[in-house]
Amino acid sequence: MKILVINGPNLNMLGIREPAYYGRETYQDLLNKIRAHADAKKITVEFRQSNHEGDLVDYIQSAYEAFDGIVINPGAYTHTSIAILDAVKSVGVPTCEVHISDVNAREDFRKTSYIRAACVLTVSGHGTNGYLEAIDYLIEHYN
Ligand code: DQA
Repeated sequence: MKILVINGPNLNMLGIREPAYYGRETYQDLLNKIRAHADAKKITVEFRQSNHEGDLVDYIQSAYEAFDGIVINPGAYTHTSIAILDAVKSVGVPTCEVHISDVNAREDFRKTSYIRAACVLTVSGHGTNGYLEAIDYLIEHYN
């Protein structure tokens, strides 16, 4: 099984940005943690990160017929991007939405998620373990 893990804007700043919400693990720590989990589960993962909305659309489109699942944290584009929602709907690849912080316990504008409607699972507020939960869900249901 092959899973594409996509991170959106400012997630490259993990470990530096707002540690009260996002913890002290760096982006590289996150990738190492996901890679170790994927190796243990004997699946393949690839990583993409961008601060640009169109890049995220391109990454999602690149998963068409190439990946069995997507795990995506669209960052702030979660709350604004119809283009990212449409991209997930276009490719028909099972997609899990992940948020490190509990978006429902923060500002009201974070409670809206456009992408959620196209996702098979949303994990929010479980820290970086949320990515591993999303991977396990895809393995359980789509492997
Ligand atoms: C986030 C939550 C978003 O509201 C925020 O804009 C992010 C990160 C999270 O992982 O908790 O950039 O997606």
